[in-house]
Amino acid sequence: MTRRQMSWPDRVRSFIGYCLSEPLYRIFSLVPHWEFGLSSHSLSSLTYAHGALAGRRAVHLSDLHLDRYQPRHDRVVDAVEELRPDWIFITGDLLNVPEGLPHLFRFLGRLRDIAPVFITLGNHDHYSGVTVPQYVELAERHDITLLVNQTRVIKTGAGELAIAGVDDPSLHRADLSCVPPPAHQRFTLLLAHAPNILDQMEPHHEVDLILCGHSHGGQWRIPGVPTFWLPPGCNGRIAGEHRAGERRLYVNRGMGWSFLPFRWNCEPEIAVIDWINEQTQAEAA
Ligand SMILES: [Fe+2]
Repeated sequence: MTRRQMSWPDRVRSFIGYCLSEPLYRIFSLVPHWEFGLSSHSLSSLTYAHGALAGRRAVHLSDLHLDRYQPRHDRVVDAVEELRPDWIFITGDLLNVPEGLPHLFRFLGRLRDIAPVFITLGNHDHYSGVTVPQYVELAERHDITLLVNQTRVIKTGAGELAIAGVDDPSLHRADLSCVPPPAHQRFTLLLAHAPNILDQMEPHHEVDLILCGHSHGGQWRIPGVPTFWLPPGCNGRIAGEHRAGERRLYVNRGMGWSFLPFRWNCEPEIAVIDWINEQTQAEAA
């Protein structure tokens, strides 16, 4: 059993976070167009060598915090469509309040028309009061694959992609027993909301790539000033690629906001993952 208990400092921090964030989301939902630093996004490009998936492409989004559908969400859909991905992965913090559900599923439905969508849950999805069975029912109705400590395996012809998705590691709801054993020509991807999943893994969990979010990249980045806001569960991982031994983890800056509806020097991010074969990688090196 790999699920761990939440320490009392984490419980206190999460409770304070919930008590602060919920009323702020209610207040700012009254002025939904009052946002700053969220109107544009940047593209990040990641390349991984795995012959059986060479030529395949995925898009990774995170931390939508989508309580109201805005014009910027249309721009994200258009950008994703242009990228022509085979799969779309979204690593939690889908919304903040239950009123966001129709807006969220409007966005997810548009993405699903582009490519199969796989989602996991984050801390704010639980703070919202929407229950896991409600998420499951809505996901099924919209033909979205919600992974809550579950795995799907997709055959790709030459090999297969195993997509394991755990519940939020920052609330210590992740159960890594869903990670499948390695197999020939299999690429195992782990979707997890918070980067501390890396600290919860045990040697027998063999994963080729972990995708997560949660950090918002710090959300407010003042040049020359160290990152001063990171939620519990990041363990110092702010953005981009991280390695721990053979493990590789990518932290997406996410699309939305926490506490205050602005981001500073920290654009929302769409990450693009391209698989290539080992020979192409060797030639590029
Ligand atoms: Fe978030």
